[in-house]
Amino acid sequence: MNKRVAVIGAGPSGLAQLRSFQSAAEKGAEVPEIVCFERQEDWGGLWNYTWRTGLDEYAEPVHSSMYRYLWSNGPKECLEFADYSFEEHFGRTIASYPPREVLFDYIIGRVEKADVRKQIRFRTTIREVYYSVKSGRFTLTAQNLVDDTVYSEEFDNVVVASGHFTTPNVPSFDGIETFNGRVLHAHDFRDALEFKGKNLLLIGTSYSAEDIGSQCYKYGAKSITCSYRTGPMGFHWPDNWEEVPLLKKVDKNTCTFKDGSSKEIDAIIMCTGYLHYFPFLPDSLRLKTDNRLWPLNLYKGVFWEDNPKLMFLGMQDQFYTFNMFDAQAWYTRDYMLGRINLPSKEEMRSHSQAWREREEKLENDEQMIWFQGDYVKELISETDYPSFDVEGVNKTFMEWEHQKHEDIMGFRNHAYRSLITGNMQPVHHTPWLEAMDDSMESYLENK
Ligand SMILES: Cc1cc2nc3c(=O)[nH]c(=O)nc-3n(C[C@H](O)[C@H](O)[C@H](O)COP(=O)(O)OP(=O)(O)OC[C@H]3O[C@@H](n4cnc5c(N)ncnc54)[C@H](O)[C@@H]3O)c2cc1C
Ligand SMILES: NC(=O)c1ccc[n+]([C@@H]2O[C@H](COP(=O)([O-])OP(=O)(O)OC[C@H]3O[C@@H](n4cnc5c(N)ncnc54)[C@H](OP(=O)(O)O)[C@@H]3O)[C@@H](O)[C@H]2O)c1
Repeated sequence: MNKRVAVIGAGPSGLAQLRSFQSAAEKGAEVPEIVCFERQEDWGGLWNYTWRTGLDEYAEPVHSSMYRYLWSNGPKECLEFADYSFEEHFGRTIASYPPREVLFDYIIGRVEKADVRKQIRFRTTIREVYYSVKSGRFTLTAQNLVDDTVYSEEFDNVVVASGHFTTPNVPSFDGIETFNGRVLHAHDFRDALEFKGKNLLLIGTSYSAEDIGSQCYKYGAKSITCSYRTGPMGFHWPDNWEEVPLLKKVDKNTCTFKDGSSKEIDAIIMCTGYLHYFPFLPDSLRLKTDNRLWPLNLYKGVFWEDNPKLMFLGMQDQFYTFNMFDAQAWYTRDYMLGRINLPSKEEMRSHSQAWREREEKLENDEQMIWFQGDYVKELISETDYPSFDVEGVNKTFMEWEHQKHEDIMGFRNHAYRSLITGNMQPVHHTPWLEAMDDSMESYLENK
C-alpha cells in the first residue's frame, strides 16, 4: 500500500510541509500521498484574517488571533523563504514591515505556484488521533463541518501543524467581575478604533502587549497602562503610556496595582499569551509545554520522541518563523522519505536535553535569536533546503532590536537588505504612525 501522510493544519507550517514534498517530487522523488486537514475555509493559518471572534459559523473556535491593522512585528527579511523571495513574488523590492494582507499574499503565492491546494480538505477538523501499535499506523477521525459528517482514515505518519497562538491563557484578578467595561484577551482584539478616547489597561509585556498598545496609541487611545508580572518592557513610550506592576485588585473602574498605585480604566486587554492545546491527541502523543524556545520531548524540535512517526511543526516560541518552519518541514520530509535515519530514543533525549540546557542559560533576546538561528542552521545543513545566510538574519534581528529601543513607534520606518537576493529594500513611503491605510494596494504603491 502506498504510504500516507496526514498534515493537520494549513497555516505557514503545514504549507511548508506540503511545499517540501512538492519540491522533492519536482526533483523526481517518489513521495507519499499527502492529505492536509484544515478546519478553516481557506489556507494561511493565523494570516487568514477574520472579523469573527468566539465561535465561527460551525461552532468551531475562531482560529486567527490577528487584528485588523496588524503589520509584521519583525523585518520581513528575517522570515523570507529561501526558495521563494519577496522579489520573486512581488516582482520588485518592497518595504520591510508588511501589513498582514501583504504577508498573506506572499505565503499563498508560493503554495499556489507549487499547486498543492488540491491536497487540502478545507472545513475539516481533526477530532481524534489514535495510534495502533499492532498495525503501526495512525487512525485519524475527521469532521467535515459543511456536511456535518465524521469519518476515519489511516495514515503512516502524522504532522501536527495546528499552531499554538489561538487558545488564550486568561488569568483572573481579584474583583474583575465588578469591572464596568470590556475585558478581552488579545485573541479577540480586532479593531483599535474601538478603544479610541479610552483609558486602556494591558496585562502582559510581550509582543501582543507591545503591539496592541502601539496600535491603540496610533488609533487614538486616551492613555495606555501596561501591567507587568516579571518586569517592564522598558521602551521609550509616548507621554500617555505608563508601565506599572501587576494588577492586584479591580473595583468597578478603579484598578489597583501591586505597588499600591491605582488608575481609572475603561477597558482591559489581557495580553497574557496562549496555551499549547491539542484536544485531538491522546495523552501518550500530546505535547505539553509552555511557550518557549526548546519544548521537551521533541527531537530536533519536531519528532515526538516516544513515537517519531508523529511530528510537530512550529511549536517553539518564535523569533524565526516561516524559514524555521521550512527548515523543520524539509527535515521531517526527509525522515518520511527515508533519507534521514533517527538515532535511538536515548540519543534523541540527550540531544534534546543538551539544547534545553543551553536554552535555560539564555539571558536576553540577543542570545535567544542566536540560539534559534543555530537551530535553523543545524536543520538546513542536513537537507536540500536552499542554504541561506542565517547569521545575516541574526544580525538583521539585532538591528531591529536596537531600532525598537531607539524608537518604538518608528522602528518600522527602517529597511534592510534581503538575505536571499542581496538587494536593499526600500523605506516605506509613509511612516508607520501616519500610515492609516494598510491595504496591500496602498503598501505596494510607489509614491
Ligand atoms: C497576533 C499574532 C501576530 C503574529 N505576527 C507575526 C509576524 O508579524 N511575523 C511572523 O513571522 N510571525 C507572526 N506571528 C507568529 C505566527 O505564529 C506565525 O507567523 C505562523 O502563523 C505560525 O504558523 P503555523 O502554521 O505554525 O500556525 P497557524 O498559523 O496557527 O496555523 C495553524 C492551522 O491549523 C489549523 N488547525 C488547528 N487545529 C486544527 C484541527 N484540529 N483540525 C484541522 N485544522 C486545524 C488552523 O485552522 C490553522 O489554519 C504572529 C502570531 C500572532 C498570534
Ligand atoms: N504585529 C505582530 O506581528 C504581532 C503582534 C502580537 C503578537 N505577535 C506574536 O504573537 C505571539 C504571542 O505573543 P504574546 O505576546 O501574545 O504571548 P507571549 O509572548 O507568550 O507572552 C505572554 C505574556 O503574558 C504574560 N503573562 C502570562 N500569564 C500572566 C499572568 N497570569 N499574569 C500576568 N502576566 C501574564 C507574560 O508575562 P511574564 O513575562 O511575566 O511571563 C508575557 O508577558 C508571538 O510570537 C508574537 O511575535 C506578533
